[in-house]
Amino acid sequence: SQASKGPRGKQQNGVTRPRPGQDRVAERLDGLEGPSIDPSRYHRPADGEAVITGTCGDTMAIRIYVQNGRLADLTVKSKGCAYSFSCLQAAADTARGLTPLQALDIDADRVARRVGHIPEDHRHCATLAVHALHAAIDHYMRHRPAEAFQEHQNADLT
Ligand code: FES
Repeated sequence: SQASKGPRGKQQNGVTRPRPGQDRVAERLDGLEGPSIDPSRYHRPADGEAVITGTCGDTMAIRIYVQNGRLADLTVKSKGCAYSFSCLQAAADTARGLTPLQALDIDADRVARRVGHIPEDHRHCATLAVHALHAAIDHYMRHRPAEAFQEHQNADLT
């Protein structure tokens, strides 16, 4: 419909879409790396997003795109240790296809298993990646709670 093509941050079909806050986020994205990511793909408006910096000083950014109640796409960027990008990418790959609520059950162990070769002293990289994923989902759900729960109920949960 015409209404659904409007800009994000406006009322659409009675639902307030999130304001991605792109200026603030874009500032924090400077210098982050996303080797597998076409920048134009990363910079489209997201349904939820987060940029977090861990106590290690590394930064991870993630954007989520929801379609038919599921995480249809996720784009990531990171700046940090050798494991920061692989952990964040693994978190995104694990979440793809799940509902946002299902993706909140993803934990650091699952991400670490997916990466497969994280030394014990870098386990916190998987934890930071999970925090980034959950923060982006939290951003989505805080702005669109009714839609998030309705989509979860409507999704074919098999
Ligand atoms: Fe910070 Fe790896 S040491 S993410």
